[in-house]
Amino acid sequence: MSGTITIDGKTMPFTGGQTIMDAALAAGVYIPHLCHNPEFKPHGSCKLCVVEANGRNVTSCTMPASPGMVVVNDTPELNEDRKALVQMLFVEGNHICPACEATGNCQLQAAGYYLHMQSPHFMHFYPPRRVDASHPDIFLDLNRCILCELCVRASRDIDKKSVFGISSRGIDSHLVVNSESGRLGDTSMAVTDKAAHVCPTGAILIKRKGYTVPMGKRLFDQKTLREFHLEQQKRVEPEDGPDGG
Ligand code: SF4
Ligand code: FES
Repeated sequence: MSGTITIDGKTMPFTGGQTIMDAALAAGVYIPHLCHNPEFKPHGSCKLCVVEANGRNVTSCTMPASPGMVVVNDTPELNEDRKALVQMLFVEGNHICPACEATGNCQLQAAGYYLHMQSPHFMHFYPPRRVDASHPDIFLDLNRCILCELCVRASRDIDKKSVFGISSRGIDSHLVVNSESGRLGDTSMAVTDKAAHVCPTGAILIKRKGYTVPMGKRLFDQKTLREFHLEQQKRVEPEDGPDGG
């Protein structure tokens, strides 16, 4: 099925199988998101991408586009909700940006800036979380994990190693490493693996690379999260257009 949808009054085409997010990004319309990455199957966990479609709130990264769909995306109300979600993510983990090697390159932090977040607003949980430095080249700090499952998807679907998984439910959900010891150093993960480079926060870091880019030249010093995500979409689209021609 293909056709057109409108987002905030702008009409754009979609093709069979495309979600609202796919159609929007392909048309250069930005819907804020964290767990979506056009290289992977949608996951639908962060909820930042919630839009109003035909009067109903839906996650745009998982909702298929349908002919004539009327979508509302960029409103103060929806952006306030998105800001609150980012604030919740900040207090749920230990995101101490001034001491994090990912600062300036972190999508969670960039989402905070993009949505004009001034403070975490909610009470911090300060959860005691594990830091795993057992791997010679890769560092894992669960204090900064937002459970987007991008590393899970990358390791399973691209690296074919399934190094990561998610354990428990609700507030107890956490990322686990699939080795008998539970340590990253005891897996076959390599620094060249896709999973080593997809984390949107500072939870998975490459060792000995921290603070190499001066302030002012880091990724999100140079561009907004919106610009970054629209460029990311372009990188995965075939040259002759989103539907291949
Ligand atoms: S470690 Fe990073 S990529 Fe993996 S689930 Fe956590 S935030 Fe997402
Ligand atoms: S981007 Fe849709 S739920 Fe995270």
